[in-house]
Amino acid sequence: MASSEDQKRKAAEAALAFVKPGMVLGLGTGSTARHFLDGVARLVQRGMDLKGVPTSFATAEVAKELGIPLTSLEDRTPPDLCVDGADEVDPKLDLIKGLGGALLREKIVAAASKKFVVIVDESKLVSRLGSKVPVPVEVHPFGWRFAADALETLGATVELRLKDGEIFRTDNGNHIVDARFRSLPSPAKTATQIMSIPGVVGHGLFLKMADTVLVGTEKGVRTLRAARKPTRTS
Ligand code: A5P
Repeated sequence: MASSEDQKRKAAEAALAFVKPGMVLGLGTGSTARHFLDGVARLVQRGMDLKGVPTSFATAEVAKELGIPLTSLEDRTPPDLCVDGADEVDPKLDLIKGLGGALLREKIVAAASKKFVVIVDESKLVSRLGSKVPVPVEVHPFGWRFAADALETLGATVELRLKDGEIFRTDNGNHIVDARFRSLPSPAKTATQIMSIPGVVGHGLFLKMADTVLVGTEKGVRTLRAARKPTRTS
């Protein structure tokens, strides 16, 4: 039986088929994206001209170690392709991301990219968003308590994210409030409500953004394509 790690690797390897010489790649964050970085590094070692825009300090660090040349969005060259993992994928290919804490930069890079391919193992597929994981909400430290209270009035149970007993800090110096909703009948409405809370910098609902989701399974890789046109903003 293929372990979840094998499934992640299979999905990441399948994403390499989208990579063409000369591309600028959005490089995701997390354990699945890490397998993709390994594959990109192999292509670079074989001489393929590729550059990456990292979605976190951690990914930048690994990419440097692996010899993947890096660039940034400052160059104003939109990445041709962004490849990243996800925490939940629903049947419409809407996502929850950010359990690794890199949601803000991940969303910016995905939004800036011409194509957004998501790589997951089967455990990430859900029938409705929010059924397994909370929605991570990145908040400015000054207003985190106010934002957490406002999320509660939207019906969420909230928890300030900690790491090793300390308040977790994102790469942007912000806090994360994990908001667990009993149900999310309209993720788009909830996304708008969350973004309207002063102090909220971003959230992990990635709606209508993914073009393709590659799902690593025991038998191989399933390709899910979005029925709608991606909007790149959510
Ligand atoms: C990072 O902030 C996240 O959005 C990750 O992309 C997501 O948590 C998936 O991570 P894994 O590939 O490690 O499951």
